[in-house]
Amino acid sequence: MKILVIGGEGTIGKKVVSFLSKNHSIITAGRKNGEIYLDLSNKDSIKQLFENNIKFDAVISIAGQVIWAPFNDISQDDFYIGIKNKMMGQVNLVQIGQNYITPGGSFTLTTGILADEPVKMTTGAALVNGAIHSFVKAVILEIKNNIRVNVISPGLVKDSEEKYGHLFPGYNIIPMEKLAETYSEIVESDQNGQVIRLYD
Ligand SMILES: NC(=O)c1ccc[n+]([C@@H]2O[C@H](COP(=O)([O-])OP(=O)(O)OC[C@H]3O[C@@H](n4cnc5c(N)ncnc54)[C@H](OP(=O)(O)O)[C@@H]3O)[C@@H](O)[C@H]2O)c1
Repeated sequence: MKILVIGGEGTIGKKVVSFLSKNHSIITAGRKNGEIYLDLSNKDSIKQLFENNIKFDAVISIAGQVIWAPFNDISQDDFYIGIKNKMMGQVNLVQIGQNYITPGGSFTLTTGILADEPVKMTTGAALVNGAIHSFVKAVILEIKNNIRVNVISPGLVKDSEEKYGHLFPGYNIIPMEKLAETYSEIVESDQNGQVIRLYD
């Protein structure tokens, strides 16, 4: 398959790309890092990416900025960074991309454990993750051409443990191999409308 991985140079993305590259042809995208330019927060940028490139059989999004801040301090602008990037970025990716990807192709989005098990300072991140879970269940009722949409919701991953482990005391750490295998399984499966929670 020809697979577009948005955020393919990120902490999770590079492990997923390395795993998928064994069996598939991968193109990575991002604002600064990636083979092709994409800013998920900009609809024109999404449209341009699909118009300028070959047809993809699958699109994986492992990107999207959110702001962490105490609820009493988080501003409207901070909330809107997450909404524009991780939430509407992934929604627009599906709405625009459905017109370009191969019939029977798939979108695999990414959220995170904070949707279900938030910690302090994550109102901005938790609400965006939860919204995407609801979006995936609703969009499959209408999307055409047998296109599948799923979302993977990881817990804290091994390669981020050093940086963010102190914010998630007692949380199980997700091995990178398990994470990469899950993205691969979902892309290669016939699953649709699923929220895959990768944590116990
Ligand atoms: N790390 C974890 O433990 C963990 C756990 C659960 C969920 N998640 C979620 O998984 C996703 C990836 O996490 P990560 O730790 O791999 O993050 P990361 O290391 O910061 O990588 C993010 C990647 O996404 C790209 N990106 C960010 N904003 C973008 C935008 N607006 N348009 C296009 N590309 C964009 C970045 O490239 P450019 O800077 O070049 O754009 C980068 O390649 C995030 O949504 C995060 O919330 C992470």
